[in-house]
Amino acid sequence: MRKTYTFDDVLLVPKYSALESRSQVSLQSSLDDEKSLRLPVISSPMDTVTETSMAVAMHSAGGLGVIHRYNTIEEQSALVGESYYAGVDNVAAAVGMTGDYMQRSEHLVKAGASILCVDVAHGDHIMMRDCLFNLKSNFDVHIMAGNVATLDAFERLSDWGADSIRVGIGGGSICSTRIVTGHGIPTLQSVFDISNTSYDTKIIADGGIKTTGDMVKALAAGADFVMVGSMLAGTRQTPGQVFTNVKGESYKAYRGMASAQAQTDWRGKSSTPEGVSTTIPFRGDVFDIIKDIDGGIRSGLSYTGASNLGQLRAKCEFIVQTQAGQHESNTHILWRSR
Ligand code: XMP
Repeated sequence: MRKTYTFDDVLLVPKYSALESRSQVSLQSSLDDEKSLRLPVISSPMDTVTETSMAVAMHSAGGLGVIHRYNTIEEQSALVGESYYAGVDNVAAAVGMTGDYMQRSEHLVKAGASILCVDVAHGDHIMMRDCLFNLKSNFDVHIMAGNVATLDAFERLSDWGADSIRVGIGGGSICSTRIVTGHGIPTLQSVFDISNTSYDTKIIADGGIKTTGDMVKALAAGADFVMVGSMLAGTRQTPGQVFTNVKGESYKAYRGMASAQAQTDWRGKSSTPEGVSTTIPFRGDVFDIIKDIDGGIRSGLSYTGASNLGQLRAKCEFIVQTQAGQHESNTHILWRSR
């Protein structure tokens, strides 16, 4: 059996840098010949993460938001339309791979979507082939697909027409797929494996990214983009209301789309949940968080002496940490005996 690694198992070796300022770093990354992002960060298509406000915020920071599909065709199309008329040039919206997905796609594209994301837990599936064929034959838009965990699956979806693919199964903060099904691969390992591809389909590392350090590791390992849910959850720009408890502390919900709560809300019943639901202390404006994300990734590149993502991939050197190394890598003053 082979050994696999995820974010906390590894570190990047600091390298000589000739960069005088983080502002000399470019984080530009292309989705295709026409679409490029200034910040390689994408917000998840989840009903507690991305609707119009998040899509607009991500766009204004140079990233991208994928509007979730857990609503009616009319509701989702309205969210896409609002984002489009709010000036977002690349509006991305999620669809499923069964049921009304063609009708939904038609409405979303009419409303202004230029990116459709086939949002499926296990994307390496026979039904994905027909879905991608139908979408590619009918719509002239960028097609994001997923999720997959292996090189084989990545190349299969690429052959079927995906332009970018979400990589990561069961690593998300709210996921219980690995517990329920016993299946998955550490997200960073999937990115390492898939980075060996000769295909130019874009790699989106998705699930389990909890710090800007994890983002830098994913981008160094070969991801073109990172997708995040929990890092943006609990902010003003996420859908849903702010709850205040008796102590005056404020919260917002964050939940897996396969959690019992989400399934019950959107399908009227729940079966075999593969996610959990939780609350996150209210964190105010997402702009402050995105600013820190932008700064953290820039700092990361400067530690490798890289002025862009291509240089990061070429120059980076990964090492494996021991358990004591992992302990030292976290802020550890709180653990010291006094
Ligand atoms: P983070 O770690 O950023 O993960 O909070 C967000 C990603 O998790 C995936 N996702 C799920 N995976 N069960 C799962 O196994 C779920 O209920 C679920 N909901 C979301 C998704 O890829 C998302 O981008």
